[in-house]
Amino acid sequence: MHTFLPIAYFENQFVPFEEARISIATHALHYGTAAFGGLRGIPDPQKSDQILLFRLDCHCKRLSNSAKYLNYDLPADKIQQIIIDFVKKNKPNKSFYIRPFVYTSDLGIAPRLHNIEKNFFVYGLELGDYLSPDGITCRISSWHRQEDRSLPLRGKISGAYITSSLAKTEAVEAGFDEAILLNSQGKVCEASGMNIFLVRDGKLITPGFDQDILEGITRGSIITIAKGLGIEVIERPVDKTELLIADEVFLSGTAAKITPVKRVENYHLSSERPITEKLKHKLTEITENKDSEYQDWVYVIPV
Ligand SMILES: Cc1ncc(COP(=O)(O)O)c(C=O)c1O
Repeated sequence: MHTFLPIAYFENQFVPFEEARISIATHALHYGTAAFGGLRGIPDPQKSDQILLFRLDCHCKRLSNSAKYLNYDLPADKIQQIIIDFVKKNKPNKSFYIRPFVYTSDLGIAPRLHNIEKNFFVYGLELGDYLSPDGITCRISSWHRQEDRSLPLRGKISGAYITSSLAKTEAVEAGFDEAILLNSQGKVCEASGMNIFLVRDGKLITPGFDQDILEGITRGSIITIAKGLGIEVIERPVDKTELLIADEVFLSGTAAKITPVKRVENYHLSSERPITEKLKHKLTEITENKDSEYQDWVYVIPV
């Protein structure tokens, strides 16, 4: 069971979470014509009267861009201000996750994005580890990631998550923790809600933006951190067979942070993960605002 933060932003005002309700006839519910964001916040481990949000500006920009695909003009700075106010009202005292959401909010049928009211809400929940930080098992999914020509994959479009859901359930019901999806070209794409990285011969490899991945904010952060640590980063198509013999594999995402993979299908990966551990340590330091080099990635909210 989730513990939801007590205050939500709904229909242009802050209301108790329980009062933020939509109709069963809501257009987006039927057609997946919605898009969402997802960002993490923590109480500052060093100062009790501060909340830290990781890469708030990037998350707001990505959601604003997702809204554009829905024919909805929602400026990033407006989203950002609402999220800041949301955090100030809730004052969470545990690690939490914020879910901002844009959607076609009219009642009624007919899939479309024109001549229809859109709306925006925000709610939050407490969130610890989404996947085991010690390592997970992954199945190569029989479901493939969609193609950019059929769906705007750079947005976090709700309807697209049917594929993630099919893949995740298929994996879990087969006894795995997570699914790795290939793209329509048969190359490694990403997991159900995380990007993927491999380490081979000391180099960090990840599928590029031309591989139908989501433009993950954690992914981008990891690439910058790795380069800063002198690790070579290569963005290129990745074959399934490379996963099976990689020195290290990990998933990245807001919810998953950096999650090591210990097995892909029946191929066991090494429990020695020097590069994954290095990146994980650095990312944790940065999100806790203990790294002066990356302080501009952390938005500090006094509460
Ligand atoms: C499909 C998918 N891929 C990748 C990611 C990782 O993106 P981020 O690091 O921005 O959370 C997510 C989560 O947002 C996702 O839903």
